[in-house]
Amino acid sequence: MERLQKVMAHSGVSSRRGAERLITSGRVQVNGRTVTELGTKVSPSDEVTVDGIPLERERLVYFLLYKPVGVISSRKDERNRKTVLDFFKDVPERIFPVGRLDYDTSGALILTNDGELAYRLMHPRFEIDKTYIAKIRPVPTNEQLRRLAAGVRLEDGMTARAKVRMIDGNREKGHASVQMTIHEGRNRQVRRMFAVLGLEVRKLKRVQYGVLDLTGLVPGESRPLKPYEVRKLYHLSHGSRSGQ
Ligand code: URA
Repeated sequence: MERLQKVMAHSGVSSRRGAERLITSGRVQVNGRTVTELGTKVSPSDEVTVDGIPLERERLVYFLLYKPVGVISSRKDERNRKTVLDFFKDVPERIFPVGRLDYDTSGALILTNDGELAYRLMHPRFEIDKTYIAKIRPVPTNEQLRRLAAGVRLEDGMTARAKVRMIDGNREKGHASVQMTIHEGRNRQVRRMFAVLGLEVRKLKRVQYGVLDLTGLVPGESRPLKPYEVRKLYHLSHGSRSGQ
């Protein structure tokens, strides 16, 4: 027997919090009876429905994609551009990307049908480190690097402290590569952080997401996560797979 909200989150219908809201607002039924108690436990043979629609209890699957540039990270695009799901046409489970990488950003992107893990990885509270390499121009000054690390003011507030390191710089040609690790995930955050300091990002790649990096993958390739990697991601988000 498992808690109803956990079963719902693992089916990909929503996060555990989202499932709790669905339950308390009376939209969830177990074997045809509406359940509003959060403590309810269900067994695999119980039929769970949300708004009368049966929950599909899919096997949980996890992938790491090396997203190429020129691909969008949402499930669908109204302009019919290629989406990250186009790389998973032979995966029957209803996976979705965990967070986003911009159309013009490449790098590590997790896709899963585990709503609970996705929620944890995306929630700023859990502070999952994401490392980017940005090719920028011109070459930043030490003061600019220091400001990036200390936090800069964006329209949506100050950024948290970041780890920033110049990998290489060519003053004659006027360009540099900078590695930056942040744990927030605001929209176009890295590009906007450089932009407020007058630095132009010409290329951006996410080289690390939590414990995962791009080793062994080329752009457009993906691999399933190993069980220990999933466990580590749960662990990083301060919890265990079986508990809250
Ligand atoms: N920051 C950005 O600016 N773009 C991304 O895709 C990810 C982080």
